[in-house]
Amino acid sequence: MSKELLIAPSILSADFANLTASLEKISEADLLHVDVMDGRFVPNITYGPLIVKTLKKISDKPLDVHLMIVEPEKYIDAFIDAGADWLSIHQEASIHLQRSLTRIKERGAKAGVVLNPATALETIEYAIEYLDYILLMSVNPGFGGQKFIPNSLRKIEALVKMTERLKPEVIIEIDGGVTLDNIDIVYNAGATMIVSGSGIFKTENPNTTISAMREKCRT
Ligand code: DX5
Ligand code: ZN
Repeated sequence: MSKELLIAPSILSADFANLTASLEKISEADLLHVDVMDGRFVPNITYGPLIVKTLKKISDKPLDVHLMIVEPEKYIDAFIDAGADWLSIHQEASIHLQRSLTRIKERGAKAGVVLNPATALETIEYAIEYLDYILLMSVNPGFGGQKFIPNSLRKIEALVKMTERLKPEVIIEIDGGVTLDNIDIVYNAGATMIVSGSGIFKTENPNTTISAMREKCRT
């Protein structure tokens, strides 16, 4: 397995009083992961299209927008208009998943589906042909700084087998509790797009951490 590693720091752990400075500290990142929470799908509330638009202005990194909201189909256009390059919606929140994924792709963004830790891979078997990436949650969504759920590794491995069978070019993303300590394990299991919030921003030198993460996945 030799797919390119993409590191996406979650700006949920950034310092919003000094956003530009926070972004400079992660200039080595490949993308910015943007966690949108509505207080309904998850217990927490974060930010909406306005912040995505702001990030687009102050950063040249692609924006990976993770919608943790109910009825995500209502906001697809708003987030793509605001600058989302990658847009993911939860399987659990999407009744008409195929339609929503098709809309995201029609609008020119990369389309992703997210699965909560206890949601089975089989629930998206018939959606795979319409998406570009699958995001597996390795914590229950809602907050940064939680502990990685160990059976996520088994789930990544099973997903690799499923995508190899159905659509090998699909990118597997992992989100929650990934740090320098365990990034090589999730990468070796088959996740190539890796989100890390506190594991990057809460370290002394975020760019050094990102470089160390890449190095760890190389060896
Ligand atoms: C959790 C979010 C994550 C979170 C990751 O609901 O989707 O993206 O910011 O944070 P860490 O890496 O600290 O677990
Ligand atoms: Zn996320």
